[in-house]
Amino acid sequence: MAELHLHIEGTLQPELIFALAERNGIELPYADLDELRSRYEFTDLQSFLDLYYANMAVLRTEQDFADMTRDYLARASAGGVRHVEVMMDPQAHVSRGVPLETCVNGVASALATSEEEFGVSTLLIAAFLRDLPEDDALEVLEQLLAMNAPIAGIGLDSAEVGNPPSKFVRLYQRAAEAGLHRIAHAGEEGPASYITDSLDLLGVERIDHGIRCMEDAALVERLANEQVPLTVCPLSNVRLRAVDTLADHPLPAMLSAGLNVSVNSDDPAYFGGYVDDNFVQLRAVLGLTAAEQSRLAANSIRSSFASDARKAELL
Ligand code: HPA
Ligand code: ZN
Repeated sequence: MAELHLHIEGTLQPELIFALAERNGIELPYADLDELRSRYEFTDLQSFLDLYYANMAVLRTEQDFADMTRDYLARASAGGVRHVEVMMDPQAHVSRGVPLETCVNGVASALATSEEEFGVSTLLIAAFLRDLPEDDALEVLEQLLAMNAPIAGIGLDSAEVGNPPSKFVRLYQRAAEAGLHRIAHAGEEGPASYITDSLDLLGVERIDHGIRCMEDAALVERLANEQVPLTVCPLSNVRLRAVDTLADHPLPAMLSAGLNVSVNSDDPAYFGGYVDDNFVQLRAVLGLTAAEQSRLAANSIRSSFASDARKAELL
């Protein structure tokens, strides 16, 4: 199985937040772990993003980024993940004074030893914050290219509604010129038209989330025909109230429609579980079968940007 939709900053566990705060001499606005944990009740995407960005304050040194990344890789490996494409949010760190080299090198150093240490092959994707101006993203992308950052592609995340794909045409053109893979969050909270526009205006190869495609029958037909990969995150969708309950999740309907879906954890420290936890709940609540789980796992490997040789090993 491959994990294709994972924000490394969303793997920062409450215990590590406290440990890093102590190591870096940072005063947290929470008295203890229980008080921090009591904040993990979200009403929508923005209510999560507020806590997600606030907690990043404890990430200061290369070692901090490396420790967070290693913790995730160890846990993902134990849960059966054999390849991961890790997104990180460079702008969320640069904007609070952490040098780009520090965050990129910290995450990349842990990824570099992952295959040997954990049996998990990795790729790094720089995700850009869609609620910031396109020029800000372009500047950071140029810096990443200038420093030869080991990135395989770019993504687009953060507050979706009101920040449509059309805002980032130049960013995605530049990434294509640089030979980078392109993915984008679309159709999580935003409308189905953001999925279409991500494909047609940004040239993305995969859609992160994409669940709202189900509101547009013509789009579903197109996505099925073109086998566009959709990286679905069931527990995330429940916790951010994109769906009411797991029992209401469109995953079974998406499978029935012949869509190329995979199951992913998104921000496992915030949404109640890693990718294996997602599968446990999908089996329990939606009656996901072993055959369906195998199909989802095969989709994740085929839809990855791993080499053909690595894909053949994993399939
Ligand atoms: N959606 C949008 N932006 C994000 C997410 C998400 O699920 N996780 C981290 N940044
Ligand atoms: Zn996401």
